[in-house]
Amino acid sequence: MRDIVVSGIRSTGNLHLGNYYGALRNFVKMQEENDCFFFIADLHALTTHPDPAQLHDNVKSILAQYLAAGLDPEKSTIFIQSDVPEISEMYLLMNMHVYIGELERTASFKDKVRKQPENVNAGLLTYPSLMAVDILIHKATKVPVGKDQEQHLELTRRFARRFNNIYGVELFPEPASYNFGSESIKVPGLDGSGKMGKSEGNCIYLIDEDKPLRKKVMKAVTDEGPKEPNSPLSQPIENLFTVMSLVSEPEVVEQYKAAYADCSIRYGDFKKQIAEDILKVTTPMRERYNEIIKDEEYMRKVVKIGAEKARESAAKTLAEVRKIMGFKSF
Ligand code: TYM
Repeated sequence: MRDIVVSGIRSTGNLHLGNYYGALRNFVKMQEENDCFFFIADLHALTTHPDPAQLHDNVKSILAQYLAAGLDPEKSTIFIQSDVPEISEMYLLMNMHVYIGELERTASFKDKVRKQPENVNAGLLTYPSLMAVDILIHKATKVPVGKDQEQHLELTRRFARRFNNIYGVELFPEPASYNFGSESIKVPGLDGSGKMGKSEGNCIYLIDEDKPLRKKVMKAVTDEGPKEPNSPLSQPIENLFTVMSLVSEPEVVEQYKAAYADCSIRYGDFKKQIAEDILKVTTPMRERYNEIIKDEEYMRKVVKIGAEKARESAAKTLAEVRKIMGFKSF
């Protein structure tokens, strides 16, 4: 049976290698076997008060990046969250069954309170209600989630169960997490630290031009080099090998591992090789992005068709919810 899959995409921050190897490559495969809804979460973006002059351009750029990476409007429903007003109405209804205490205990909320104490708005608190609605309004059975979204999916299941219990219905399935198996990879940063991430400021972006990309890789943190044959890898060098194993041919990785083991490795060459192999992965995508971002007509068509399909599915669920809660027309 085909699953209904919903994935929301933040409209802030460009896609980087961490996104690509963490989930995006799998999204492209996921849409072959499932009925996927991919949307850009521009309402969620409001919780941090983005600049109105930037909002639309951010959405457009992220849309073009996802299309360039292979999300296919022929296979999936690709839409903008704010183009589906049914979501906002159901969010209001859902909030009547969501308790402030459970929202206050959410890790992402506590994190935001720490990071933006001057802007702890109600939208931030109810971020999980809106996310639950994104999922439940299409009666999704699967949601791809990275570690940081697991708690939100758990809340979604709780809200679905609660709604079903309160009204004695079986309206919402409890969505499971979409498991990519071993294929979801944690990409390390090139600054010798943990993962690659926007907040870490160490990202190689998929739309980086050749020159800045090469420069970033050449600046990657290394060490003083192996002092004796077969010495263990330091963290920064292990990180570089992890990135290399994602983008380079296995023989190339072996060649550099052997050079490390016999102390003949030259980090300059090592990094050059990594940069060129990253570019092999990102260049076709960047070229498609540059085409798509100029093609307003195409993007308009994609989101128009996406919104129509998403609204049809959302309106059906909303009508059921309204009926269950007791609304009737005169
Ligand atoms: P975000 O921007 O962190 O990630 C975008 C989407 O990719 C999924 N994802 C992953 N899935 C599997 N393995 C991974 N390693 C991995 N990394 C990221 C995310 O779970 C997400 O589906 N709050 C959400 C945006 C959102 C949303 C939704 C997601 C709003 N409404 C409804 C799913 C369903 C977020 O910040 O995702």
